[in-house]
Amino acid sequence: MTQEVSKKPMDAIMALCKRRGFIYQASEIYGGINGFWDYGPMGAQLKKNLRDAWWQDMILRPCWGRNGPNGKPVRNVGLETCIIQHPKVWEASGHVGGFNDPMVDDKETKGRYRYDHVMVYVPESGEAGDKPVFAYVGDQPSEAKQKKKAEKTFGAIKSVALSTLPQPWTRVIGPDAEKPGTLTEPRMFNLMFDTIPGAIRDEANKAYLRPETAQGVFVQFKNVVDTTRVKIPFGIGNTGRSFRNEVTPRNFTFRSREFEQAELEFFCHPDESLDWYKFWRDFRMEWWKQIGLAGENLILREHEKDELSHYSQGTSDVEYRFPFTAPGFGELEGIAHRGNYDLTQHQKVSGAKLDFFDTERGETLPNGGKKGERYIPHCIEPAAGLDRGALALICEGYTRDDSRASPEFLKLHPRIAPVKAAVFPLVAKDGMPEVAEKLHAELSDKFWKLGGIEMDEKQSIGKRYARMDEIGTPYCITIDGETLTAQTVTVRERDTATQQKVSLDKVAAFLSEKLGV
Ligand code: GAP
Repeated sequence: MTQEVSKKPMDAIMALCKRRGFIYQASEIYGGINGFWDYGPMGAQLKKNLRDAWWQDMILRPCWGRNGPNGKPVRNVGLETCIIQHPKVWEASGHVGGFNDPMVDDKETKGRYRYDHVMVYVPESGEAGDKPVFAYVGDQPSEAKQKKKAEKTFGAIKSVALSTLPQPWTRVIGPDAEKPGTLTEPRMFNLMFDTIPGAIRDEANKAYLRPETAQGVFVQFKNVVDTTRVKIPFGIGNTGRSFRNEVTPRNFTFRSREFEQAELEFFCHPDESLDWYKFWRDFRMEWWKQIGLAGENLILREHEKDELSHYSQGTSDVEYRFPFTAPGFGELEGIAHRGNYDLTQHQKVSGAKLDFFDTERGETLPNGGKKGERYIPHCIEPAAGLDRGALALICEGYTRDDSRASPEFLKLHPRIAPVKAAVFPLVAKDGMPEVAEKLHAELSDKFWKLGGIEMDEKQSIGKRYARMDEIGTPYCITIDGETLTAQTVTVRERDTATQQKVSLDKVAAFLSEKLGV
């Protein structure tokens, strides 16, 4: 029996991630550092596979070769920009002035929480009333404990957002506080990390670690147009680390202070922007499904009109039902119609001309050509998080089936699985290791670009299967007695644990077919 994701235990998933080398706490031997995570050998390969899948399907062969809403193939190019940019980039983008979250501090515990994340339990009968109420940060594990405590006092309770309660909150008990009334009024907190490049430690030289990869694209827009053959409509993709000084990093890697994004800025004519927005929104949803997040755990949530920025004609989020958000969903990717906001801002602040001369538009000339049209393109931005993507794939893949000898396994899409196949000699004698080594070398030569082919001869065959199941290896190939007599191997399939015989000389072809390469 497999499980619904909402019933999947997050602690077991985190334990598996540690045990099998997917994700470690950063600086663990020093006690860790809040909001930072390292990827172990399996996690690094899984995340690389995800990043590669994004790059292949967005840059190298955009949208699997299908046409855009203009009836022509989609054209995108790649870019790699610096983490530290000129500080004016973040003034122009609005991050210096506006990348703020309203926060409340707890005077007792010294905890700091996002104002809009603090939920408060109040008696079903009335708002805060004259009885104490309990607060918690929405998706913290301590929530269940707090809720029980509140239920004991009030019986029926409901939760409301802190922001809906009138000030002062003298009856609100802060998350993890003992006494009521210790939360401050909300104050703005800028999420950008700053640093001072160069030898002179002067505030005037302050720069920032990028909070998103997107702005690197906007500030290089002109260079890309001038140095390549791109023509509107086209996109520029940028992947890499971003940094946000999240006040309450939590839920494993979901909200980290250092994380990786894969963003595409797709530039188009204003008249076509709504069509492109819908196109990208739908494609991105399809893409996440294609790499393994199918089913009711994935939704596309269109923002309400009153949630949109003034320049935006639409924003949607691809959301996944993580075990810690269930029955709710958490954002994996945002697809935003950004209008011409960013290029206009950078044009204004830098003084550089960031418009585009489109030779395929404007009046038709007597010679049949076009007069051309100059405009600042609109931008559609599918902005994905690779850490959240990796976490969603691990949560979706995590399966427990107690009827199996190895009850925990990861159902990863073969494209994402860090190891594609493993070769085992059943026993380390009778010539089996030699045959296994030869097959391992043959398969490695053929498939190394896709990720690992492993060979393992230690421990019992059951333990070796269990290890491969837990890292999500789709196929295990065992060299056994029949390999020596009948030239066949036993191939075991991860999800069903079923076994079949395949001719030794057909294993590579079998894997090619199964892995879809
Ligand atoms: N350029 C637009 C932009 O950055 P965003 O919604 O703030 O939009 C895009 O970020 C994606 O980056 C999110 O959907 C999420 O997957 C990821 N992301 C954002 N903040 C994150 C954090 N603190 N930890 C992990 N991933 C994060």
